[in-house]
Amino acid sequence: MLEEILKKYPQHEDSLIEILLEYQNKKTKRFITEEEIAQISNYLGVTESKVCSVVSFYTFFSTEPRGKHIIQICKDVPCYVNGRGNVLKTLEQLLNIRIGETTKDEKFTLEYTSCLGNCDGAPAMRIDGKTFTNLNPNKVKAIISEYRGVN
Ligand code: FES
Repeated sequence: MLEEILKKYPQHEDSLIEILLEYQNKKTKRFITEEEIAQISNYLGVTESKVCSVVSFYTFFSTEPRGKHIIQICKDVPCYVNGRGNVLKTLEQLLNIRIGETTKDEKFTLEYTSCLGNCDGAPAMRIDGKTFTNLNPNKVKAIISEYRGVN
């Protein structure tokens, strides 16, 4: 699948983020391996360290296998001062994992992200690209039980 995606893009460094995004989004468990980083760097003619630095800079890329649903909780100050701690604690208890981990049934991955652009609704989190704001433990419980019910 990676080869097919690579062929669609010009062999230039400017294609790097788009390639990574398209490939990761199409791949089961949405992560990128060392071998794939090498393949991408070879195709684009950039160093592997350049590809690695992009993958590690953006929180939406991962080098670890992830669950079906990716929960990203905002780590920035407005969310922190508006109760992110309680939201995170609730998520960790509900899912029985710590931040950075994936549940045993591979259904949920819990990650930090930088500001989601919803500071007015802090604390905020995103699940599979959908943003939830003004969170509190009860709201988080309702959201998670909804996702548990959805396959
Ligand atoms: S700081 Fe959390 S959404 Fe902006």
